[in-house]
Amino acid sequence: MKEDFLSNYLGPKAENIGVLKDLLGVVLDYQANWRKSFYKGDVSLYGGKPPEAGEKLKKELADFLERSSKSLPYFHPRYMAQMVKDPSIPTVLGYVAFMLSNPNNHAYEGGPVTTEMEMEVVETMLKMTGLKTGWGHLSSGGSLANMEALWAARDFYKEGYVYFSEVSHYSWKRICQILAIKNYKEIPADRNFRIDTEILESELKKNRAMFVMANLGSTGTGSVDEIEKLLDLKKKYNFHLHVDAAYGGFVRSVILDDNFGLIPFGKEEMEISEYTYRQLSLLGEADSITVDPHKHGLISYGAGAVLYKNEEMRSVLLNSAPYTYHKQDKPNIGMFSLEGSRPGAMAAACYLTYRVMPPVSSGMGELIRNSLAACRKFYELVEDSARLKNLNSPDLDISCFYVNTKESDIGAINKETLGIYKRLSVEAESPEFIISKFVIPPVLSGVVLPGYSNRNDENLSALRAVFMKHWPAMDDFYYIKELVRQLEK
Ligand SMILES: Cc1ncc(COP(=O)(O)O)c(C=O)c1O
Repeated sequence: MKEDFLSNYLGPKAENIGVLKDLLGVVLDYQANWRKSFYKGDVSLYGGKPPEAGEKLKKELADFLERSSKSLPYFHPRYMAQMVKDPSIPTVLGYVAFMLSNPNNHAYEGGPVTTEMEMEVVETMLKMTGLKTGWGHLSSGGSLANMEALWAARDFYKEGYVYFSEVSHYSWKRICQILAIKNYKEIPADRNFRIDTEILESELKKNRAMFVMANLGSTGTGSVDEIEKLLDLKKKYNFHLHVDAAYGGFVRSVILDDNFGLIPFGKEEMEISEYTYRQLSLLGEADSITVDPHKHGLISYGAGAVLYKNEEMRSVLLNSAPYTYHKQDKPNIGMFSLEGSRPGAMAAACYLTYRVMPPVSSGMGELIRNSLAACRKFYELVEDSARLKNLNSPDLDISCFYVNTKESDIGAINKETLGIYKRLSVEAESPEFIISKFVIPPVLSGVVLPGYSNRNDENLSALRAVFMKHWPAMDDFYYIKELVRQLEK
């Protein structure tokens, strides 16, 4: 991988602490000079001599840091449990630089510089997703982005059913409840954890659909719904297609050239199947999209985003107030968003990060390809293992697997996999690796593992590893091989 990209991360052993310290110093010096540039005639309220840090602060900081040491090592390549990535150095610098002046992007006057940065970040994300026109903004995360999209659709179209697959993020059901949408249905998933489009079509024949949600990277398995088929259904049944690409949206960077044009499949190594390539390439055909910079987009929490193809949709969200939004000729994002105050610092973090590592193949794609390659390597090692079995073939970089038991019963699998989970998860004292579980209800486990009995009608507990960091692919897949060794123990 490019040297430059590696220096953009603090590193598992804080290898780049020098880079971070130096550049944070640049940010702090800039802030000091910037403050001094205002109202130069005013005298210092500190009588010329700045006070030293108080004893209380020093003591509390020491206790606070001690407490932070008990946090889990989310940054480490051995942590593969959930969707947490080490924030890049540009993200930290961008955030700190503007956190120090604390702009608020709800109104232009609250953050003129960071509002403009946010609009540029949105432009970049529109290009990245393939939406040629449109509007959007950052949000605190994917759930809020999803909620706003469905709120806008509900009030724009007025009536019709909402459909999404049973493996969708839990926010979707809650959003329907909050928005008082009673006409929603979860559609069963197929053996690849993708929405079953035949069952969906039989529903579409029965009920007028308003909103169909496709997953581009479901939370449990990273599965990618068949967007090409959903677009055929959209033509036939005329619904709003929203893609929840909170997890997988930024993976599209691996198929983009420097001008955000599509690189033909196979022209360079993309580490994805042709199926995933086709769905990624069609993302821009959606009517609205959720993407999460705080997942694959290299940013720290909380940064989500909602993007709409039709800018008109925001009209139903219009909000005004007597005490703000005074700059009428400039974008006032809060007039059209669910959330009120939003940190300008987050827009700044995204802006700086995407200047340094744009979401194209030669930029962020460099890192994401590593994650995809790590997942593929793990999949191959599990295929060759006598002790482990893949639950499915991953569409992105999340792997679900289980123990190959003598007895073909779900109960036997659960016993074995839970044994491993206790050893290699947050439940263990000092685990060699931290992975997670993926729990599937009996009906779906019957679809995924049709050859297995389920004598006690149990949920299936599979194991799950999220390879979203770039490090496990490095050093000839050292951490992937080591993980398999630990699992086979
Ligand atoms: C597919 C998908 N959608 C939505 C969300 C919700 O995002 P957030 O946790 O940022 O609210 C997640 C989170 O894991 C997700 O994986």
